[in-house]
Amino acid sequence: MRTLQEIPELRKVLGEYRQRGLRIGLVPTMGNLHAGHLALVETARRHADVVVATIFVNPLQFGAGEDLDAYPRTLAADQAQLEATGCDLLFAPTVTTLYPHGMDNLSQVRVPVVSEGLCGGSRPGHFDGVATVVSLLFHLVQPDIACFGEKDYQQLAVIRKLVADLHFPIEIIGVPIVRAADGLALSSRNGYLSADERAKAPQLQRILTTLRHAIEAGDPIATALESGLKQLGAAGFEPDYLELRAADLGPVTATTREAVLLAAVRLGTTRLIDNLILTLPR
Ligand code: PAF
Repeated sequence: MRTLQEIPELRKVLGEYRQRGLRIGLVPTMGNLHAGHLALVETARRHADVVVATIFVNPLQFGAGEDLDAYPRTLAADQAQLEATGCDLLFAPTVTTLYPHGMDNLSQVRVPVVSEGLCGGSRPGHFDGVATVVSLLFHLVQPDIACFGEKDYQQLAVIRKLVADLHFPIEIIGVPIVRAADGLALSSRNGYLSADERAKAPQLQRILTTLRHAIEAGDPIATALESGLKQLGAAGFEPDYLELRAADLGPVTATTREAVLLAAVRLGTTRLIDNLILTLPR
């Protein structure tokens, strides 16, 4: 696997792939890779001839007071994992390479409505930063397919809308959440948890699972969510949001069947997100 940091070299290698008629799969990441990221690479492998991963901790998607500086940078370990998983090319640019004119007056991409509320409500500007860097990477790599994890459910919806609105000729593939044996959704931010917090963290998925069963069995949604918030509080989480939305993140209506239960919580200083897909009763 080759690692490139500069755009001209990236374009040269990608041009060679295209000349050979190879189908390109893209896996954008911020590094500190875990089995969830490797599942993205494996999925990309099945849908493309060559897999290009990117590692870039994107300052544009971090708000003031968030963990940009603390975000783990583990390039050597990431390279070894990508290589072992069959990634062909890693693009790991610096901030100056991607944003050579700085970020203050940078042209940005905004995806309205779907990026509002949920994580977009508690992290203002976050999805503008994501949509901007993902558009930039799509533009540079011009992949045939790109893989994103379903743990970041709202991010995936934002990217699908972005691709549809801006006519990117790219197939977006959502990859199911990878969980630890105790149910905790894998996330680079899990590394921030103390041993005590890590022991408590799987309660998030357990509470969501209990709620899913209650809602699928016909419990009123408002009552179930109210009970869920109490359960989260009792388990030591500080809930940011707990919501039931239609699968496309629109509001649940009388005709909604495919829905998604989404939560963001704080455990100590760590923000955790998770979601479960469910089918509403008729
Ligand atoms: O999901 C992530 O790791 C990031 O938000 C992404 C898509 C790589 C954009 O920086």
